[in-house]
Amino acid sequence: MSVLSGKHILLGITAGIAAYKTASLVRLFIKAGAQVKVVMTPAAKDFITPLTLSTLSKNPVVSSFTHEEDDNAVWNNHVELGLWADLFIIAPATANTLSKMAHGTSDNILLATYLSAKCPVYFAPAMDLDMYKHPSTLDSFKTLKSFGNIMIPAASGELASGLVGEGRMAEPEDIVSFIESDILKKLPLRGNKILITAGPTYEAIDPVRFIGNHSSGKMGFEIAKVAADFGAEVFLISGPTHQKVHHSLITVIPVTSASEMYQAVHEYFEEVDIAILSAAVADFKPKDIASQKIKKTDAALTLELEKTQDILASLGKIKKHQYLVGFALETNNELENAKDKLERKNLDLIVLNSLNDPGAGFKSDTNKITLIDKAKLIQSFELKSKSEVARDILNKIIGDLHA
Ligand code: CTP
Repeated sequence: MSVLSGKHILLGITAGIAAYKTASLVRLFIKAGAQVKVVMTPAAKDFITPLTLSTLSKNPVVSSFTHEEDDNAVWNNHVELGLWADLFIIAPATANTLSKMAHGTSDNILLATYLSAKCPVYFAPAMDLDMYKHPSTLDSFKTLKSFGNIMIPAASGELASGLVGEGRMAEPEDIVSFIESDILKKLPLRGNKILITAGPTYEAIDPVRFIGNHSSGKMGFEIAKVAADFGAEVFLISGPTHQKVHHSLITVIPVTSASEMYQAVHEYFEEVDIAILSAAVADFKPKDIASQKIKKTDAALTLELEKTQDILASLGKIKKHQYLVGFALETNNELENAKDKLERKNLDLIVLNSLNDPGAGFKSDTNKITLIDKAKLIQSFELKSKSEVARDILNKIIGDLHA
């Protein structure tokens, strides 16, 4: 799966002959799983039609500040377009547009969008060889790079003028792989391996019955997804759950009971840098599992339970370089209990959920957490979606690892 999958890509097209190649570029972005919108300068329409681009991108194309709707002029909102984008790619970028970008000129919608965009901006210059080498063009490159914009250098080859040299826009395939590798190399967890536990465990009573709990596994799966989006290789050890995930960086290891989870966790722990134990592991299990289905012949049934192994505590005892994170679900004396757990289990971070907070806990799509780190620094967060909570947890870990 491409790192561009699910990304919002805004493609800015300016008036160079290489504009005809943007039809392929749009197709490649769509094939990579991205959503694409196109903004073009008015002059770029001489080189490729908006109809071609709107058909390929499956979105309207904008090239002016307004458009007509029922005989009324409607404003094309460049600010919204800039905020929609996860990435803005200007290709081909002419010397004229690059110079205007460098100087804050905003005389068309593409330039206004550029000035409003908060996302990473890439530009792929395309021009004749002498224009490419002109000190004023080189100045534009330098200024734009100083703004943090990323240049996709032009290639050498035959140019529209018939001259041969540097100035040809990079080929669409090369633009896509340039952007993909640029994103990959900047991912904050690239090169890290993470172990995550999720979901409930089922402790068998007999061949058909078990002791379980209401954990949905959502929190752990969200952490796994965000960690993989941040570039980590993830081992997701999950108890029985309906959650699904498809990501090339996530390996799901399904388990059923606490002892299976214990074994799987210990198999992977040695090779990971971070372990986040969000599973709701059963604390007790039946001492003996009946080999046949238990019949209801007696008036009452007594089950003898014994403790399961505490997986998190066992990791706290053996951890070396690993950053270890535990969860605590508390009903009273929350902060004190969580701090105590952090110390007892030798953790680097504990994620506290209070059952007293509405919207927090097992089955909901939201969670409200407090993070407590080794230095007893306490950070409380608002009620958020579990995906945003996953981001907060991972950002805290990344911050600590780079401190
Ligand atoms: N945990 C675990 N193995 C267990 C039980 C719990 O790895 N057998 C982990 C959970 O995944 C979670 C953390 O321990 O990260 C907190 O679990 P909890 O049951 O709240 O903590 P306990 O230390 O068992 O405390 P309590 O006395 O509240 O039961």
